[in-house]
Amino acid sequence: TTIYVPRDSAALAAGADQVAAAIAAEAARRGQAVTLVRNGSRGLFWLEPMVEVQTPAGRVAYGPVAPQDVPGLFEAGFLAGGAHALGQGVTEQIPFLALQERLTFRRMGLTDPLSLADYAAHEGWVGLRRAAAMSPGDVIHEVTHSGLRGRGGAAFPAGIKWKTVAEAAAGQKYLVCNADEGDSGTYSDRMTMEGDPFMLIEGMAIAGLAVGATHGVVYIRSEYPHAVATMREAIVRATEAGFLGADVCGSGRPFQLEVRKAAGAYVCGEETAMLESIEGKRGIVRAKPPLPALQGLFGQPTVINNVITLASVPIILARGADFYRNYGVGRSHGTLPFQLAGNIRHGGLVEKAFGLTLRELIYGFGGGTRSGRPVKAVQVGGPLGAYVPESKWDVPLDYEAYAAFGAVVGHGGIVVHDDTADMAALARYAMEFCALESCGKCTPCRIGSTRGVEVIDRIVRDERRAEQVILLRDLCDTMLAGSLCAMGGMTPYPVLSALDHYPEDFGIAPPSER
Ligand code: NAI
Ligand code: SF4
Repeated sequence: TTIYVPRDSAALAAGADQVAAAIAAEAARRGQAVTLVRNGSRGLFWLEPMVEVQTPAGRVAYGPVAPQDVPGLFEAGFLAGGAHALGQGVTEQIPFLALQERLTFRRMGLTDPLSLADYAAHEGWVGLRRAAAMSPGDVIHEVTHSGLRGRGGAAFPAGIKWKTVAEAAAGQKYLVCNADEGDSGTYSDRMTMEGDPFMLIEGMAIAGLAVGATHGVVYIRSEYPHAVATMREAIVRATEAGFLGADVCGSGRPFQLEVRKAAGAYVCGEETAMLESIEGKRGIVRAKPPLPALQGLFGQPTVINNVITLASVPIILARGADFYRNYGVGRSHGTLPFQLAGNIRHGGLVEKAFGLTLRELIYGFGGGTRSGRPVKAVQVGGPLGAYVPESKWDVPLDYEAYAAFGAVVGHGGIVVHDDTADMAALARYAMEFCALESCGKCTPCRIGSTRGVEVIDRIVRDERRAEQVILLRDLCDTMLAGSLCAMGGMTPYPVLSALDHYPEDFGIAPPSER
């Protein structure tokens, strides 16, 4: 019998290694032959460690499993899918999973992440093989036509960025994968690198061939030791198998990859600070222009894409641009792996086409708050994203629809707060976070964030409140318009959304009572 116990960090943090050891020991004690596969996580985090057993009816899930549950699971005949209090039924039929549209995450949790055979058996390398036989221009056209936009948060069309680099004249071009996933409540990049690393490698190889970059760097968040180790090993294996190296997949063209451990600063996820960091310097933001696409790493034309952007490329090449493009709404094509976090009953990864609503995500998939109290605010798009109030929970999640009311979809991080949240404290935290993480290059961010904390404190203490609110709005305006990068430029989003939608938390009467 094959038993799956995830090796994803989220499962490890919940004790997956101990559960795997307990299963091996109990099977040995009973003289039952089992094959333990350490797969990626399915992304149903409230069930981790989620153990799956292969049965004739499909994989059957049990979770969350603790080591002391293991003898009881054997007693209940879980090797044959037997009934048990922790039983979740056939994995694919669990509504949280069954209702998703998993394109990029279609292999997640199905395979052993480092098995080349598993990867190949699940549509692996199909896109790269096709790209290797195509002209670079045709590959770029395919990616452009798919409508794929940057999944790091800024949503710039990937194909147009690639075209800029492809057309730049230079002896050396680079590809950098931004895996410095710093947004609070996000983990789709980490899951990809830990759970399906060959998919990212395949996407990077396709991008490298398309733009003529021969060297790629994966810049991985330093707090992600398992992702670093898995990516390093996957690169070795993919190189040995001929998918990287001097002759990528029989194309006659070279592309090699290296992993760099990031410097541990939020701002190093900003693309130009990241380039500085890779070059061995302190992570300080560069002024744009010049765009990295023209003068990037070591001054050479460089494609910089987020993990999920690159990981979405193999399926686009494998199934064609139209297949991908037909998911989504408006100008937001394809799917986004949304990440449910914070005070939520069913936290985890939900890949869906753009166009679903926040209400469907937090109640349909997430099941409401973990505390059982009413949801008060939802921060969408990381620590620099707006707090979305209930009046906007039915707006379809798409880049333009969100921008229209002053919010961002960003990298798809969704952090839920219940009615005990103090929105003034959260606004203060946004300013404090900016002050801590600012690279210091420009004044609105470096000084404005510190002044912002002070002004919010005065508002809350009711020291000349009305005047301080005007000052805070003025300060946010300066930060929005005058900051060099998104760190200072977006900090006003959480601050102003908190102030506008939850004024009572700042001691201000809501508009209806004024
Ligand atoms: P941006 O709008 O300045 O640029 C987007 C991308 O397009 C960049 O790579 C830029 O170099 C490129 N670009 C722009 N014009 C181009 C052209 N004509 N040709 C070729 N390339 C071009 O946005 P930025 O500052 O790179 O990113 C801000 C976003 O980052 C925010 O929206 C935020 O959501 C997100 N973010 C994500 C985090 C994460 O952990 N994933 C953390 C913090 C912020
Ligand atoms: Fe640095 Fe902040 Fe200015 Fe960005 S906005 S360049 S992080 S000081």
